[in-house]
Amino acid sequence: MPFAKHTAILKEYMGPYKSQTAMVCTLIILNVGLQIYNPRIIRNYLDAVTNVADVDVLTRAAIIFIIIALIQEVIYIINVYLSVDLAWKVTNDLRLDLTRHCFSLDMTFHNRYKPGQMIERLDGDVNALSNFFSVFALMIFSNMLLLTGVLIALFIENLIVGIAFTILTIIALISMYKIRSVSVKQWTQAREETSELMGFIEEQLAGTEEIRPNDGIENVYRNFHNISKKEYNQYNTAVFKSRMSTVLSFSIMAIGSTMVYVLGIPLVYNQTITPGTLYLFTFYFQLILQPIFDILRQIQNLQQADASIDRIDELKAITTKLENKGTEKASKGLFDLKFDNLNFAYNNDDYVLRNISFHLKAGKSMGLIGKTGSGKTTLSRLIYRLYDYTDGQIMINGINSREFDLHELRKMIVIVTQQVQLFAATIKENITFFDESISDERVLETINMVGLSDWLRKQPNGIDTELKQAGLSAGEEQLLAFARAFISDPSIVILDEASSRLDPATELLIDNAVKKLLKNRTSIIIAHRLETLESVDSILILENGEIIEYGDRDELIADDNSKYSYLRNVGIEELLT
Ligand SMILES: Nc1ncnc2c1ncn2[C@@H]1O[C@H](COP(=O)(O)OP(=O)(O)O)[C@@H](O)[C@H]1O
Ligand SMILES: [Mg+2]
Repeated sequence: MPFAKHTAILKEYMGPYKSQTAMVCTLIILNVGLQIYNPRIIRNYLDAVTNVADVDVLTRAAIIFIIIALIQEVIYIINVYLSVDLAWKVTNDLRLDLTRHCFSLDMTFHNRYKPGQMIERLDGDVNALSNFFSVFALMIFSNMLLLTGVLIALFIENLIVGIAFTILTIIALISMYKIRSVSVKQWTQAREETSELMGFIEEQLAGTEEIRPNDGIENVYRNFHNISKKEYNQYNTAVFKSRMSTVLSFSIMAIGSTMVYVLGIPLVYNQTITPGTLYLFTFYFQLILQPIFDILRQIQNLQQADASIDRIDELKAITTKLENKGTEKASKGLFDLKFDNLNFAYNNDDYVLRNISFHLKAGKSMGLIGKTGSGKTTLSRLIYRLYDYTDGQIMINGINSREFDLHELRKMIVIVTQQVQLFAATIKENITFFDESISDERVLETINMVGLSDWLRKQPNGIDTELKQAGLSAGEEQLLAFARAFISDPSIVILDEASSRLDPATELLIDNAVKKLLKNRTSIIIAHRLETLESVDSILILENGEIIEYGDRDELIADDNSKYSYLRNVGIEELLT
């Protein structure tokens, strides 16, 4: 079926707005009905005049005509409002749907598309479709309805006239569609020829120095001539084909008008129809023309919508590699985290983590250190299930992390990195991530907890201050990120070099805040300075994706042969370089 994908998307997204869609359709039907009905009043009027009827009848006909015309306008306005409103609701639903879908996809997808591409996908295509939903779908419907309505009305008036105009309509639609699509193709080709010519000229100009001394000028002239000739011919054909469609539409008008009189006048003479009815035929013929032209224009719009629908379907067809089959719910409290022989590769067999096993007891914290590229960030992503590991296990309170529902799992864990993405919104919204269910008290409490209450006092509207006017230092930004992370009261916290972009003094300040925050939580601190790890319980050192040292921090310090003791003596730079 040629319109299968269009009807599918209409059904899916208009479905939830059945009553409004029904209302819009009803108004369209009413409007079309009145359009067809109103000329009949004029016909009666004209016939009354020719029959020398009394003035009362004429006045009544005139008043009814005006009232109907007014009603028609009112219906039209209401309908435009309702259909545009409907189109925007539907478009926004679609946009939301696609955005949700993209969020559900795994990181492999997000790494592949650039932000610009995503915007084009989520916004450009959807906007293109809003035209399809509002103007197109309803216009096509109303035009088709009008066309059929008028033809039926003609049939009722006179069988032969009905048949004649139905045939004319069908021929007009088919022939104009053919010619139009041909001319569109010709124009595209013509534009391609032009760009080829421009490319050629540019190339020759750039190569002038080469061409002149090497006697290439003759060749350039000849090539230029050939390419221009091709362009000229192409444009000629395109213009000719376009004119053809104009000629064709005029011809249809001419043929139609002639038909009205050739068929109609004899009927008036032999008194099969009244002169008023002849007028009605003329009027109806005009009513047929508009939908014919509109439908053709809309078919072209349809081709543009086609491309968008295809791209949207393509996007929807991408599924996440992370399967979400777990059913375990999140819970509160102290969590125990265990890695069991875990191996992981982003691509094929290129292992980034190998044989990782450790056991972080509930409420304890572990310091994770290692060179850049040793796999620290990757390890934290696996806990959060941004990627799935190849083999081995991650257990949370003895439950395999895959057995949790993905969303539930992520509710229990928070990762703070050095990248703080703030939004042009209020302080509160930045901390709650726009979650309106979080109370102001909770926001204030959290701000207090991270040590930003002095800063907040300086803000003119408290937590409702717009962030861009608040003026944040890097340290304050980082603390805000902590507030954001801790407002949900997570059970497992991972700090991935969270304060590494700060100067040491500020970092110390933050270390203190962090100490408070990590109390009664299970945490992993990825650090680039050993000072940050003064209060952790255990230490894990990664190198090239493998554990080279893991143990209780105090024990490692006591052991003079441990890598950690060595690093404490010579400085962590030794490891990092
Ligand atoms: N999204 C990714 N796709 C492919 N390889 C990646 C990706 N992210 C990181 N890697 C690679 O994995 C290894 C470990 O990186 P990472 O976990 O970021 O290390 P660290 O946080 O210790 O600096 C590096 O070799 C890095 O190039
Ligand atoms: Mg990292």
